[in-house]
Amino acid sequence: MAATNLTTMVPKSPEPARFAIRKAVRADADAAWDIRRAAVMSECPSAYPLDQLEQWTGGTASRAFADAVEERFLVATVDEHVAGTGMIDLTTGKIDAIFVHPAYMKRGIGAAMMRHLETLARSQGLRELKLDSTLNAASFYRSLGFEGDEIAPYRSPRGLTMDCVPMTKRLSG
Ligand SMILES: CC(C)(COP(=O)(O)OP(=O)(O)OC[C@H]1O[C@@H](n2cnc3c(N)ncnc32)[C@H](O)[C@@H]1OP(=O)(O)O)[C@@H](O)C(=O)NCCC(=O)NCCS
Repeated sequence: MAATNLTTMVPKSPEPARFAIRKAVRADADAAWDIRRAAVMSECPSAYPLDQLEQWTGGTASRAFADAVEERFLVATVDEHVAGTGMIDLTTGKIDAIFVHPAYMKRGIGAAMMRHLETLARSQGLRELKLDSTLNAASFYRSLGFEGDEIAPYRSPRGLTMDCVPMTKRLSG
Protein backbone atom coordinates (compact mmCIF):
# COMPACT_ATOMS: atom_id res chain seq x y z
CA MET A 1 0.00 0.00 0.00
CA ALA A 2 1.45 3.37 -0.95
CA ALA A 3 2.27 5.72 1.92
CA THR A 4 0.33 8.92 1.39
CA ASN A 5 0.95 11.89 3.58
CA LEU A 6 -2.03 14.07 4.27
CA THR A 7 -1.90 17.09 6.51
CA THR A 8 -5.21 18.60 7.41
CA MET A 9 -6.33 21.48 9.58
CA VAL A 10 -9.60 20.25 11.01
CA PRO A 11 -12.09 22.96 11.99
CA LYS A 12 -13.70 21.10 14.90
CA SER A 13 -14.12 21.60 18.62
CA PRO A 14 -12.82 21.16 21.24
CA GLU A 15 -9.57 21.97 19.47
CA PRO A 16 -8.66 21.52 15.84
CA ALA A 17 -6.09 18.78 15.37
CA ARG A 18 -3.27 19.18 12.88
CA PHE A 19 -2.46 15.64 11.96
CA ALA A 20 -0.86 13.52 9.29
CA ILE A 21 -1.76 10.05 8.04
CA ARG A 22 1.09 7.76 7.05
CA LYS A 23 1.81 4.09 6.59
CA ALA A 24 2.73 2.48 9.90
CA VAL A 25 6.16 1.06 10.68
CA ARG A 26 6.94 -1.78 13.05
CA ALA A 27 8.01 0.67 15.76
CA ASP A 28 4.38 1.91 15.88
CA ALA A 29 3.12 -1.47 17.11
CA ASP A 30 3.18 -0.71 20.85
CA ALA A 31 1.51 2.66 20.37
CA ALA A 32 -1.13 1.06 18.13
CA TRP A 33 -1.79 -1.60 20.76
CA ASP A 34 -2.10 0.99 23.54
CA ILE A 35 -4.44 3.17 21.46
CA ARG A 36 -6.67 0.18 20.70
CA ARG A 37 -7.01 -0.62 24.40
CA ALA A 38 -7.47 3.01 25.50
CA ALA A 39 -10.08 3.68 22.81
CA VAL A 40 -12.03 0.52 23.62
CA MET A 41 -11.92 1.06 27.38
CA SER A 42 -13.07 4.65 26.91
CA GLU A 43 -15.96 4.10 24.47
CA CYS A 44 -17.09 0.48 24.58
CA PRO A 45 -18.08 -0.17 28.24
CA SER A 46 -21.59 1.16 27.52
CA ALA A 47 -22.05 -1.61 24.95
CA TYR A 48 -20.09 -4.64 26.18
CA PRO A 49 -19.30 -6.38 29.49
CA LEU A 50 -15.94 -5.28 30.90
CA ASP A 51 -14.59 -8.83 31.05
CA GLN A 52 -15.20 -9.16 27.29
CA LEU A 53 -13.32 -5.91 26.65
CA GLU A 54 -10.47 -7.17 28.84
CA GLN A 55 -10.27 -10.36 26.80
CA TRP A 56 -10.34 -8.32 23.59
CA THR A 57 -7.67 -5.79 24.49
CA GLY A 58 -5.67 -7.23 27.40
CA GLY A 59 -2.06 -8.38 27.36
CA THR A 60 0.73 -6.99 25.26
CA ALA A 61 1.21 -6.65 21.53
CA SER A 62 2.04 -10.03 19.99
CA ARG A 63 4.45 -10.61 17.13
CA ALA A 64 1.42 -11.27 14.90
CA PHE A 65 -0.02 -7.89 15.87
CA ALA A 66 3.32 -6.17 15.15
CA ASP A 67 3.44 -7.96 11.77
CA ALA A 68 -0.06 -6.68 10.95
CA VAL A 69 0.87 -3.13 11.95
CA GLU A 70 3.99 -3.20 9.81
CA GLU A 71 2.28 -4.74 6.81
CA ARG A 72 -1.16 -3.19 6.77
CA PHE A 73 -1.79 -0.38 9.27
CA LEU A 74 -1.96 3.34 8.68
CA VAL A 75 -1.50 5.73 11.60
CA ALA A 76 -2.68 9.27 12.23
CA THR A 77 -0.06 11.34 14.01
CA VAL A 78 -0.28 14.62 15.90
CA ASP A 79 3.10 16.26 16.51
CA GLU A 80 4.75 12.89 15.73
CA HIS A 81 2.63 11.11 18.39
CA VAL A 82 0.48 8.26 17.10
CA ALA A 83 -3.12 9.29 17.80
CA GLY A 84 -5.16 6.83 15.75
CA THR A 85 -4.99 3.75 13.56
CA GLY A 86 -6.80 2.18 10.62
CA MET A 87 -6.32 -0.43 7.94
CA ILE A 88 -7.93 -1.70 4.76
CA ASP A 89 -7.50 -4.90 2.80
CA LEU A 90 -7.37 -3.57 -0.74
CA THR A 91 -8.28 -6.96 -2.20
CA THR A 92 -11.58 -7.20 -0.31
CA GLY A 93 -12.41 -3.63 0.82
CA LYS A 94 -12.51 -4.77 4.45
CA ILE A 95 -11.71 -1.97 6.91
CA ASP A 96 -10.42 -2.73 10.40
CA ALA A 97 -8.53 -1.32 13.39
CA ILE A 98 -10.29 2.05 13.47
CA PHE A 99 -9.25 3.40 16.84
CA VAL A 100 -8.53 6.94 18.07
CA HIS A 101 -6.86 7.60 21.40
CA PRO A 102 -9.34 9.24 23.82
CA ALA A 103 -7.08 12.29 24.13
CA TYR A 104 -7.64 12.97 20.42
CA MET A 105 -11.26 11.88 19.91
CA LYS A 106 -13.94 14.18 18.47
CA ARG A 107 -11.46 16.23 16.45
CA GLY A 108 -12.09 14.67 13.08
CA ILE A 109 -9.25 12.14 13.09
CA GLY A 110 -11.44 9.02 12.86
CA ALA A 111 -13.47 10.47 10.00
CA ALA A 112 -10.29 11.59 8.20
CA MET A 113 -8.79 8.10 8.52
CA MET A 114 -11.99 6.64 7.04
CA ARG A 115 -11.91 9.12 4.14
CA HIS A 116 -8.27 8.26 3.52
CA LEU A 117 -9.01 4.52 3.40
CA GLU A 118 -11.95 5.17 1.09
CA THR A 119 -9.69 7.16 -1.25
CA LEU A 120 -7.23 4.26 -1.35
CA ALA A 121 -10.08 1.86 -2.12
CA ARG A 122 -11.40 4.06 -4.94
CA SER A 123 -7.90 4.37 -6.39
CA GLN A 124 -7.82 0.56 -6.62
CA GLY A 125 -11.22 0.47 -8.32
CA LEU A 126 -13.02 -1.17 -5.39
CA ARG A 127 -16.82 -0.95 -5.52
CA GLU A 128 -17.64 -1.60 -1.87
CA LEU A 129 -16.23 -1.08 1.62
CA LYS A 130 -17.17 -3.35 4.50
CA LEU A 131 -16.45 -3.53 8.20
CA ASP A 132 -17.71 -5.01 11.45
CA SER A 133 -18.63 -2.12 13.72
CA THR A 134 -18.61 -2.23 17.46
CA LEU A 135 -22.12 -1.58 18.80
CA ASN A 136 -21.01 1.85 20.09
CA ALA A 137 -19.50 3.04 16.78
CA ALA A 138 -22.26 2.12 14.29
CA SER A 139 -23.67 5.67 14.27
CA PHE A 140 -20.16 7.04 13.59
CA TYR A 141 -19.95 4.83 10.48
CA ARG A 142 -23.53 5.68 9.46
CA SER A 143 -22.55 9.35 9.48
CA LEU A 144 -19.90 8.41 6.90
CA GLY A 145 -22.36 6.65 4.59
CA PHE A 146 -22.17 3.06 5.84
CA GLU A 147 -25.34 0.99 6.06
CA GLY A 148 -26.29 -1.93 8.28
CA ASP A 149 -28.47 -2.46 11.33
CA GLU A 150 -28.29 -6.16 12.10
CA ILE A 151 -26.27 -7.34 15.06
CA ALA A 152 -24.22 -10.46 14.33
CA PRO A 153 -21.52 -12.39 16.17
CA TYR A 154 -17.97 -11.42 15.18
CA ARG A 155 -15.07 -13.81 15.81
CA SER A 156 -11.79 -11.99 16.46
CA PRO A 157 -8.41 -13.34 15.30
CA ARG A 158 -7.73 -14.33 18.93
CA GLY A 159 -10.91 -16.41 19.01
CA LEU A 160 -13.16 -14.03 20.97
CA THR A 161 -16.78 -13.84 19.84
CA MET A 162 -18.60 -10.54 20.35
CA ASP A 163 -21.65 -8.77 18.97
CA CYS A 164 -20.94 -6.38 16.10
CA VAL A 165 -22.85 -4.67 13.29
CA PRO A 166 -21.73 -5.75 9.79
CA MET A 167 -21.82 -2.63 7.61
CA THR A 168 -21.15 -1.82 3.96
CA LYS A 169 -20.74 1.26 1.80
CA ARG A 170 -21.17 1.20 -1.97
CA LEU A 171 -18.58 3.25 -3.83
CA SER A 172 -20.11 4.79 -6.90
CA GLY A 173 -18.50 6.92 -9.56
C1 LIG B 1 -15.29 5.64 16.70
C2 LIG B 1 -14.01 6.49 16.76
C3 LIG B 1 -12.95 5.86 15.86
C4 LIG B 1 -14.34 7.90 16.24
O1 LIG B 1 -13.12 8.64 16.18
P1 LIG B 1 -13.12 10.24 16.36
O2 LIG B 1 -11.81 10.74 15.89
O3 LIG B 1 -13.50 10.59 17.75
O4 LIG B 1 -14.30 10.68 15.38
P2 LIG B 1 -14.44 12.07 14.61
O5 LIG B 1 -13.99 13.17 15.50
O6 LIG B 1 -13.76 11.96 13.29
O7 LIG B 1 -16.00 12.13 14.43
C5 LIG B 1 -16.61 12.26 13.17
C6 LIG B 1 -18.09 12.44 13.38
O8 LIG B 1 -18.62 11.27 13.99
C7 LIG B 1 -19.21 11.60 15.23
N1 LIG B 1 -18.90 10.51 16.17
C8 LIG B 1 -17.69 10.20 16.66
N2 LIG B 1 -17.81 9.10 17.46
C9 LIG B 1 -19.11 8.77 17.44
C10 LIG B 1 -19.86 7.73 18.04
N3 LIG B 1 -19.31 6.81 18.83
N4 LIG B 1 -21.19 7.69 17.80
C11 LIG B 1 -21.78 8.62 17.00
N5 LIG B 1 -21.11 9.60 16.39
C12 LIG B 1 -19.80 9.67 16.61
C13 LIG B 1 -18.58 12.90 15.65
O9 LIG B 1 -19.41 13.63 16.52
C14 LIG B 1 -18.42 13.59 14.32
O10 LIG B 1 -19.65 14.14 13.89
P3 LIG B 1 -19.71 15.62 13.28
O11 LIG B 1 -18.89 15.56 12.02
O12 LIG B 1 -21.17 15.84 13.03
O13 LIG B 1 -19.13 16.50 14.32
C15 LIG B 1 -13.47 6.62 18.20
O14 LIG B 1 -14.50 7.15 19.01
C16 LIG B 1 -13.01 5.32 18.81
O15 LIG B 1 -11.84 4.97 18.69
N6 LIG B 1 -13.93 4.59 19.51
C17 LIG B 1 -13.60 3.42 20.31
C18 LIG B 1 -13.15 2.23 19.50
C19 LIG B 1 -14.18 1.70 18.55
O16 LIG B 1 -15.27 1.31 18.91
N7 LIG B 1 -13.77 1.70 17.26
C20 LIG B 1 -14.58 1.17 16.21
C21 LIG B 1 -14.11 -0.22 15.92
S1 LIG B 1 -15.16 -1.02 14.66
